[in-house]
Amino acid sequence: MTDLDELQDPGRRPRPRFTVLPEWAGVSTRLVHGAQRPDYNAGAVVPPVYRSTTFHFPSGFSEVTDRESLYEYTRLANPTTEVPAELLRDLEGGESARLFASGMGAFTSLLLSLVRTGDEVVALDMIYGGTMGVLADLLPRFGVTVRFVNERDAREPEKLLSEKTRLAVIESPTNPLLTVHDIARWAKAADAVGCLLAVDNTFATPINQNPLALGADVVYHSATKYLGGHSDLTAGAVVGPQDLLSRIDPRGDYGSVLDPFAAYLLGRSMKTLALRMARHNENGRRVSEALANHPRVREVRYPGRASAEEEEIASRQMRGRGGMVSVAIEGGAAAAEQFLHHLRFVHVASSLGGVDSLASVPGLTSHRHLPPKELERRGIDPGLIRFSFGIEDPDDLVRDLTEALDQLG
Ligand SMILES: Cc1ncc(COP(=O)(O)O)c(C=O)c1O
Repeated sequence: MTDLDELQDPGRRPRPRFTVLPEWAGVSTRLVHGAQRPDYNAGAVVPPVYRSTTFHFPSGFSEVTDRESLYEYTRLANPTTEVPAELLRDLEGGESARLFASGMGAFTSLLLSLVRTGDEVVALDMIYGGTMGVLADLLPRFGVTVRFVNERDAREPEKLLSEKTRLAVIESPTNPLLTVHDIARWAKAADAVGCLLAVDNTFATPINQNPLALGADVVYHSATKYLGGHSDLTAGAVVGPQDLLSRIDPRGDYGSVLDPFAAYLLGRSMKTLALRMARHNENGRRVSEALANHPRVREVRYPGRASAEEEEIASRQMRGRGGMVSVAIEGGAAAAEQFLHHLRFVHVASSLGGVDSLASVPGLTSHRHLPPKELERRGIDPGLIRFSFGIEDPDDLVRDLTEALDQLG
């Protein structure tokens, strides 16, 4: 039996530190053994889910000299949420990482924290629709100028950024066209004018690409995608240097805070990230090659395929090309719908990055806010299909897709 007094005075220790792994430990070892720390209560191997929103201060608040060393309120810090944040920090090679309730929560917190009235933000004009929407709708209301740049101009970032630019926002590979942008070149151009470069690393993941090592100032993620990996959680993340991260809504006051149970699922999933990405990479490569040779396929978009220049950049900055493939087939939107209907192993659904293969039509989902003329101008065929290949057997996916195309006659 526990004495009530004992409950009132559990003898809390400062937040235990994570174990430091040897430098030589590889990525899979880091994902399995990283972010571990002693569980003084039960010796659990798997970190417990701390659902508590608040934490005990037995001797009162004024007695505590170093409040930061204790958990106080889950919106500020939570032991379960710290685990996947630490794994991601380590993987991206940043000094600090923070998790948010969604990828959009991460991005808006980053924007609201780093940009102020009078600043200019430069962003690619064909990236995730939600990101474009926030940039186009939210920032101008606070007196921030946003300049969208097309793919061709984005090849020469030195000509786009100036002393007025506070932040540059890019994705590579982009959603949904899988265009590869030269991150190191963007970072150099940003440095030259003293602006910050934020890179969305959702499609590549830190297994395939590390923007911070290429010179980016801050990396953000929709952890809903490959990091979560099973299409069953919504989360976002920001990784970067400590001084920058300490300015990005450090107390969660903007409200985009990850729930501890989602954080637990994320930490659990990240243990298999390297294994999953190896299969996603293989499936993306195999299927993109098979589709490119099919007579019904007009165009295949896969990182590095678009041109020799992009291939050179991709081979320089990526370790694997991922599982995202976009395809335009002969016959436009009607043929695309028919094709999707014939598939056995691909769900027609939004989102990406999970173990199950998914297909969506960006013109009808993630980019549906853009009028047809704008979609066309930005290279998005109305019947373009964006595939997220899962971890099924590569031969089965190739067979499924080829047979469905053959049925189109
Ligand atoms: C590249 C990219 N970034 C950010 C987001 C936004 O993430 P979330 O849906 O977790 O808010 C998405 C969502 O599809 C995305 O594809």
